[in-house]
Order: sequence, then structure tokens, then C-alpha cells
Amino acid sequence: MEYRRLGATGLKVSELCLGCMTFGRETDEATARKIVDRFIDLGGNFLDTANVYAAGASEEITGRIIKDRRQSVVLATKVRFNANIFLGKPVPPNDIGLSRRHILAEVERSLRRLQTDYIDLYQVHSWDFETPIEETMRALDDLVRQGKVRYIGASNFTAWQLMKSLWVSDKHNLARFDSLQPQYSLISREIEREILPLCRYEQVGVIPWSPLGGGFLTGKYRSGQKPPEESRLAKMDLWGRLANERNYRTLEAVERIAAERGRAVAEIALAWVNQQPGISSVIYGARTTEQNEQNLGAIGLRLEQAELDELDKASALAPEYPGAMQARTQPRAR
Ligand SMILES: NC(=O)c1ccc[n+]([C@@H]2O[C@H](COP(=O)([O-])OP(=O)(O)OC[C@H]3O[C@@H](n4cnc5c(N)ncnc54)[C@H](OP(=O)(O)O)[C@@H]3O)[C@@H](O)[C@H]2O)c1
Repeated sequence: MEYRRLGATGLKVSELCLGCMTFGRETDEATARKIVDRFIDLGGNFLDTANVYAAGASEEITGRIIKDRRQSVVLATKVRFNANIFLGKPVPPNDIGLSRRHILAEVERSLRRLQTDYIDLYQVHSWDFETPIEETMRALDDLVRQGKVRYIGASNFTAWQLMKSLWVSDKHNLARFDSLQPQYSLISREIEREILPLCRYEQVGVIPWSPLGGGFLTGKYRSGQKPPEESRLAKMDLWGRLANERNYRTLEAVERIAAERGRAVAEIALAWVNQQPGISSVIYGARTTEQNEQNLGAIGLRLEQAELDELDKASALAPEYPGAMQARTQPRAR
């Protein structure tokens, strides 16, 4: 397992991060414990959850599992949403969003559920149009100064939202976002246009979510066939959005390389994300111990340039005007 700095910080995170979103939902606690144990046994030190996953049960389960080894784990969680919105229940107006009041209340609940007195990486789950970013950054800065939070990150921000936040932090000398958690995989490459170049330029660590496309890039989905009944894409009705020609072309390329190397499809998909420049760690998910075992096969796996090129070609975004990409990806002049 390789350890990398989270962006410009001195914090070292394992190349794979275990996403705990399934815990308390489709993965019971006993299975979750086996998944975490195996991940840590193989050198993993980075776990990601959120206050709203399984209405708080994900944080509770994660907290119980890592309680006796808290010091060796880098624990990331998130704030912004309220679980009631996923349950169709009413949400009191001050129990959602990135106001000072909600952040300060919610961090205490997360600390309690996680059974810890500090969170290593506290992330805002997405932008809040109803709160000034200055208010949010000041509240997060207070948490860092109090020691309740060690580092801060953002998730699902657009490029302008991230840049605006960094500017506010720099202007007022407040803690800066150290990482961004965006969706990124071979079938979701939009962040390559604006967000990845920005993160590299500003030295913000990138920790992608859904690197397997929620399971699409694992080999269990077939063109022209219905998705397996127990799969997430079937249960969450995401199938229609993903079953398109470009994604199948991409999947075929991943499967070809997997077959040539005698590796699992998921391993190749994870390795591709892991090898993109600026990636600090790849947040994968697993519903079962078998899936976890397969995905952990990607530890240390590095693809050859010809393989990266093949995957790049199969999954490429629509072309832009000539030179646009190059203009965005130049390193920072220092
Ligand atoms: N910031 C955000 O907004 C955000 C959003 C989503 C996720 N996340 C974070 O990112 C983590 C990972 O996201 P994700 O779960 O969407 O990632 P993913 O790795 O793309 O998908 C994981 C899912 O794919 C299927 N799968 C995984 N490995 C498999 C294998 N080897 N063979 C067959 N199927 C396999 C499983 O679903 P089924 O078996 O049920 O089909 C599993 O739950 C989450 O736990 C969470 O921490 C963050």
C-alpha cells in the first residue's frame, strides 16, 4: 500500500480509502467489521463516511469498529445535509446547510456517533447557496483551532465554488480546504475539464468517490441485459442513466485489459483512477466481503502507459476546441 500526502498537507493517506456509505444500509455491522479489518490488515488507514449515511448508522458502526485503533486511522466525515430529506420527512430550517449554527451542532453529533474527540478530515458535502461562504469557512476554521477537526475538505463543488472558498480562506487567513471529494471514474470524467487542473494548481488533494461507477465497472452488468436484481444500479434505478454506448465501450476496454492481465475488472477500473495526476486516494465501496477482497486487489496495481491510453481513448469526453485542455493543465509557475 502506498501512502500519499493529502494535497499540500503532511497527512499521509493510503492509496485506497474505504467508503463506509453501505454500512447500516445494505451492509450489516458484522460484515462491515470484516471489511474494515481486512482493509486495515492490508495497510489501509483512510475511511470516509458522512453524518447522513444510513441516517447516522454508518458513523455509529464505523465508530464502534475503529474505537480500539482510532490513532492509526484517518477518519473523514461530512456535514451539510439532513437524513430526513432522504426519508421524505420534514427538515427544521436550521438543521441543514452550512450555517455556523448547523456545522457547530452537527460536528458534536458526528463526534458522539464516531466515539472520538477529533475528526481528521471534516468535509462539506456540497455548496450551500443559502449561507455566505465566509460564514462557513469561519465556522470550519474555529473547529480546526479548537482541535475538533484536523483538516477540512469540500465535496461536489464546482470549480468556481472551490476557488471562491480558497480565496475567502486566503483573504481572511482562515483554514483552507485541503481536499476535494468529487465523483470520478472512467464513466464520469467531467472533472478533468476544470476541477482537476484547479486542484493540481492549488495543491488541493483529490479523493474521488464512485470510482467503480457505483458498480458499473465491475463486470456484472451486460449490454442488452437487465442489471442483477440485488445490485445498487437496479435498486436505485440508476440503470437508465449509465447503460449507454460510451459506457459499454469503456467497460469493454476495461474487461479486455483485465482479461489480458488475469485481474478482476474492478481492479483495473480502480487502478486507472488511482493513476490520474493529483489523486491522493481513491474512495471505493463494497457491499460484501467478496467485493471488498476483489477491490483490495488494486493495491499497488499500476497500469502500463499503453493500457492507460487505451482506457483514455475508449472513455474520452467529447473533444473541445484545440488547445483547450493543454491551456488548463500547465503546471503552476513558481
Ligand atoms: N461525497 C459524495 O457526495 C459521495 C457520494 C457517493 C459516495 N461517496 C463516498 O464514496 C464511497 C464510495 O462510493 P460508491 O459506493 O458509489 O463507490 P463504487 O466503488 O463506485 O461503488 C461501490 C458499489 O459497487 C458495487 N461493487 C463494489 N465492488 C464490487 C465488485 N468487486 N464486484 C461487483 N460489485 C461491486 C457494490 O454495489 P452493489 O453490489 O450493491 O451493486 C458497491 O456498493 C462511499 O462509501 C462514500 O464514502 C461520497
